[in-house]
Amino acid sequence: MHYDKGSDDQMSDVMVMLVNNLAKNLGNSVIFTFKAQGHHWNVEGDTFTQYHDFFGMIYEDVQESIDPMAENIRKLDVKAPHNLVEFAQMSSLEDSPECKNVQMMLKDLFKANAQFVEDLNEGIELAEKCREYGIADFLTERVDMQKKWHWMIRSHMKKTVPSYRK
Ligand SMILES: [Fe+2]
Repeated sequence: MHYDKGSDDQMSDVMVMLVNNLAKNLGNSVIFTFKAQGHHWNVEGDTFTQYHDFFGMIYEDVQESIDPMAENIRKLDVKAPHNLVEFAQMSSLEDSPECKNVQMMLKDLFKANAQFVEDLNEGIELAEKCREYGIADFLTERVDMQKKWHWMIRSHMKKTVPSYRK
């Protein structure tokens, strides 16, 4: 979806940018949820339970943000997109490659999350410019959670440093 204001629409240019940012972040939320959920389904190996649960926590958190993200678009009196093709088109995140192991899954989420954080930050700036402080607050909460996932995913990607202690 790319929202274009009609000729008689009173919506300001910056508000149009905010609507399009929210649509992008809605698409990102859907794509990111399915990335994490796919890894939750397909992870294998002796760390199965650990990563099945970790990816599960991520997708459940992001999934819960889909509804309020869409409702913020409705608050601006624009219809929320709701078809699957549109979600994929609106999102700035790439589809997951085939991930043969946990490290590839973590890398896939890490890369997508970095872009997601950038898009949420862009939304906060736009919402503040529009004096939509409630939306800015919601996006700030979301970016804080995505930064928490960023930290946790990064920590899982680090190689364990052998201890000098026996
Ligand atoms: Fe599950």
